[in-house]
Amino acid sequence: MAASICDTKRNYTRGAGPEPVCGLTFDPVTNQCERRIIRAFASPVLLMANIIIINNEAVNAELPSDTPLLWLLRDHLDLTGTKFGCGTGLCGACTVHVEGQPVRSCVTTIASVQGKEVTTIEGLSKTGDHPVQKAWIEEDVPQCGYCQSGMIMTSVALLKAKPKPTDADIDSALAGHICRCGTYSRIRKAIYTAAAAMPVPAPAPAKGKAKPAPKSKTPASGRDTKKGAKA
Ligand code: FES
Ligand code: FES
Repeated sequence: MAASICDTKRNYTRGAGPEPVCGLTFDPVTNQCERRIIRAFASPVLLMANIIIINNEAVNAELPSDTPLLWLLRDHLDLTGTKFGCGTGLCGACTVHVEGQPVRSCVTTIASVQGKEVTTIEGLSKTGDHPVQKAWIEEDVPQCGYCQSGMIMTSVALLKAKPKPTDADIDSALAGHICRCGTYSRIRKAIYTAAAAMPVPAPAPAKGKAKPAPKSKTPASGRDTKKGAKA
């Protein structure tokens, strides 16, 4: 697999950026990071085809099965909206949806999502106008922006599960998401703004309690479907 270094490492090695915080050893001879070498070339797992549906497109990822989903997204598919923060499932920057649930793609192997639907921030809305994205803009949430796509993906999943979340729901959903710029209060405000803008889905009828609809004497549509009925 052709390997490339991440933007942070690249900028750092060019003297145009801060020192990366990932803690991985960078080898200037091979132009690769320690973790990429381990994943790409020293994996004990054989290469295999992993068909994954990413943003409604089938992707055949011919990579070692234990390749993190984040590597596939950023390095192979150029979906760089999903960020690499800690690499160990602790910051939330890499959050994407798998079958609609938020997961941390840095600690999710491509084998574990084989045949499943993955949605990244790029797949949320083609034009960036999902109600949560619009609320983020309205409330001017991001500062540096690094954590924000992960925050948005988790917030979208939260609002799907709880269209009118409480403070406690928000705290629980975003636990473990870290924003180094401290935008937490604006994130909370934006979630409430999005919740107010999103239509609340009608509650599903309770199972076993639904009464049969009364028979109507006249067809609701105004068209009589009985044989021989007059127009
Ligand atoms: S980069 Fe995945 S949780 Fe931090
Ligand atoms: S906006 Fe900078 S880390 Fe969250």
